[in-house]
Amino acid sequence: MNKRRLVAALTLTALACLIVIFTNKAESQQDPAERRSPIDGKTRRERFSHTGKIENEDTARTDLSLSSAPDSATEAPVGFDNLTNGFNEQGPNFETINEDNVVALRSFNDNRFIFEEVESVADGVGPTFNAQSCRECHQNVVTGGASQVAEHRTGRTDHGDFFESLGGSLVQSRATHPDIVERVAFEDDIRTFRMSTSTLGSGFIEAISNETLLAIRDAQPREVRGTELIVPVLEGNGSARLGRFGWKNQHASLQSFSADAYFNEMGITSPLFPEENTSSGRDMSEYDSVPDPEDDGVDIVAFANFMRSTKAPSRGPITADVRAGDKLFSQIGCAQCHTPTIITARPGSIINGGSFTVPNALGNKIIHPYSDFLLHDIGTGDGIPFLPTVEFAFTTNKMRTASLWALRTRNRLMHDGLSFTLPEAIKRHAGQAANVTKKYNALSAAEKSQLITFLNSL
Ligand code: HEC
Ligand code: HEC
Repeated sequence: MNKRRLVAALTLTALACLIVIFTNKAESQQDPAERRSPIDGKTRRERFSHTGKIENEDTARTDLSLSSAPDSATEAPVGFDNLTNGFNEQGPNFETINEDNVVALRSFNDNRFIFEEVESVADGVGPTFNAQSCRECHQNVVTGGASQVAEHRTGRTDHGDFFESLGGSLVQSRATHPDIVERVAFEDDIRTFRMSTSTLGSGFIEAISNETLLAIRDAQPREVRGTELIVPVLEGNGSARLGRFGWKNQHASLQSFSADAYFNEMGITSPLFPEENTSSGRDMSEYDSVPDPEDDGVDIVAFANFMRSTKAPSRGPITADVRAGDKLFSQIGCAQCHTPTIITARPGSIINGGSFTVPNALGNKIIHPYSDFLLHDIGTGDGIPFLPTVEFAFTTNKMRTASLWALRTRNRLMHDGLSFTLPEAIKRHAGQAANVTKKYNALSAAEKSQLITFLNSL
């Protein structure tokens, strides 16, 4: 680690030590953060704090410059084809798998079945939830992709401080009983949609080392430079890692995100999220007869392994206009944030706080996500910080650079899905992207059209 990075890391460590509580759905009136779980005796505050220490994960790599891929690095497999990237074997014919013969963790097809499986109230769905299967929101054009489903988050500010809506900023849209459907309080006037993102190829993103993300940041011109977010790896004993998943970079590992999604999207508790949500702050235990944790943790790993086995999105046809647009994309500065090429950590690198070793299928792979996986303020910030505590106020108006791979499968753009066309999405880029947007505006009509043609090939 060079000196500048070390200093940066130490500063971040100090900052991160302040972290006290990690939750999407927390505060009911009696500060549940301090209540000891009957399941593992931990308080929420303890469970979601982290060490603040960012490890170098790919210790064998000395040259982090992105332009010089080590000779041994190879392109990650791509395709929207429901075929494994090699992390797990393909497994039995998908059409023959059913609820009775599925074997969790056996293969890509088994784990895909579990990712697609529609859960019921008896399995633990609810009492409040958004959908009954991961696939409901992650499907386009194959299982694991994005979708038009948006969730909503709300809160309010008081004297400059952000407060989540009672029961957490994520407002579940469905419930198992009419009396417990969450409602947004009139006073909670910070409101946003967040679109479902694609999880295809996300095993490669998980396999990017902390130091590679910091190197990308350090190479960015000051004006557009991104900000990293340190988050705990829940299955890694709360070890700190750079977040890279979700619109706020709220998770660093796919297992942590899966546990969060099972809990917050479907209402299914697991060892990493063992206690039920509230309905706008109200206890719902009388509406839930399934003992917690409702999943023993196996489904969570099945989801994570399914996503780790998905191929990266493939490109559309590469025409002369696409090539010209690609050049313009770099020339005018879009590529400064939408990083076209990243190399994942070497096989054998230990990540996720020691809980995951990068395998051959995911390591030393060249990927083209068109994101730096850092937060930026481009004037679109949704007003909702990562966590409602002062040390994360800096995330309030920042969003993760949207990855542009699989862009041609999405027709509702930006975090809120409220940009309908690519030029509209680009024109919303202000703040840190203002100068780049100016350069876009100055392009000739023909050049703009080439740039859009390029984007439509992603
Ligand atoms: C109701 C819709 C919905 C359901 C159901 C759902 N998700 Fe998501 N998912 C989302 C949304 C919305 C986001 C972006 C959330 C954000 O960043 O605030 C997301 C983001 C993700 C991401 C981060 C991808 C990235 O890089 O941004 C992962 C991983 C993920 N979901 C996994 C899952 C898993 C596993 C399940 C099933 C347990 C699941 N999701 C169920 C809506 C859903
Ligand atoms: C300073 C960093 C930065 C620069 C420069 C930048 N972007 Fe972005 N881009 C972002 C962020 C952050 C988002 C997500 C914003 C949001 O959702 O609120 C985004 C979102 C997008 C999206 C929406 C993708 C989706 O799936 O919804 C497109 C398209 C896009 N950018 C294209 C471009 C193009 C083209 C350029 C150059 C003209 C550019 N960006 C320059 C940071 C940047």
